[in-house]
Amino acid sequence: MKNIRIDYYTGTGGTELSARLLANKLRSSDYHVEENRIYRDKISGIQKLETDYYILFFPVHSFNAPKPIYEWVKHLEGNQCKTAVISVSGGGDVLSNSACRCKTVKFLKKSNFNVIYQQMIQMPNNWMKAPDQKRCTAILSHLPSKIDQISQAVISEKREKPTIYWIDYLISALGEAEKRGTKKFGCGIKVLHCCTGCGLCTRNCCSSNIQLEPQTSTDAHPKPKFGNRCDMCLGCIYNCPQKALTPTWGAFQIDKKGYNLGILKKDIPF
Ligand SMILES: Cc1cc2nc3c(=O)[nH]c(=O)nc-3n(C[C@H](O)[C@H](O)[C@H](O)COP(=O)(O)O)c2cc1C
Ligand code: SF4
Ligand code: SF4
Repeated sequence: MKNIRIDYYTGTGGTELSARLLANKLRSSDYHVEENRIYRDKISGIQKLETDYYILFFPVHSFNAPKPIYEWVKHLEGNQCKTAVISVSGGGDVLSNSACRCKTVKFLKKSNFNVIYQQMIQMPNNWMKAPDQKRCTAILSHLPSKIDQISQAVISEKREKPTIYWIDYLISALGEAEKRGTKKFGCGIKVLHCCTGCGLCTRNCCSSNIQLEPQTSTDAHPKPKFGNRCDMCLGCIYNCPQKALTPTWGAFQIDKKGYNLGILKKDIPF
């Protein structure tokens, strides 16, 4: 095995950090690794993948993958390569999360990928209430050993299928229904006057849902405009350097203290 392709979707950076650490670990074992961040506007037509091993990372949203993951997988055509699906979540391997990869695995199989391995990584939770700094440091300190474990599994082409209980399928289905509210959340994000029009939110929206609108006579800066394809990753709200974005619907889902992975991981030498 020589070539590995890693695709990841990320909102606030936890999944990206995990994917990057794994890519670097595999490179240090002489694999050629291609990393690719998933953006919704890159999804068009069918993309054929020629790789020896494919790895798909996503954050868990409402006990499932975010919607763009399903669209992404449907637009790929694999070559029966061995495949790993890695989910990243605030709760980790708790029971309610255990069916979160099922739908993605089903679509991957349909797209000609041979899924042989699945794993969950725990990262600090970004939804509603983030853990305090001490707890985040404790969670993040386990990450290097988890990445070692996954890297070994990929290198040895380990086969591992998780046990899923019927109740988790039910929770996962309820979570899919809950995700319908994400569109409403995105349409309700308000831009405050302190926005400088820097465009960071536009560039980073993995769902390609934000456009910068040109200046008007009343606004000195271009302003972000939100479309109706928000997947509620919370990236734009937490990462805005001016704290200029505020939800008008579903605001309880944001931690008022903010969430900055750069600060949360400051004590860990990655
Ligand atoms: C809308 C939303 C729903 C979430 N649902 C779950 C969940 O069902 N289970 C869980 O353990 N974590 C859940 N989380 C937490 C994220 O999975 C976790 O913080 C993850 O590390 C975020 O990855 P990212 O930083 O790459 O976006 C949710 C986060 C968001 C924004
Ligand atoms: S909302 Fe924040 S990130 Fe987006 S353009 Fe304005 S200042 Fe920049
Ligand atoms: S609009 Fe904001 S919350 Fe919605 S998907 Fe884009 S970055 Fe995430």
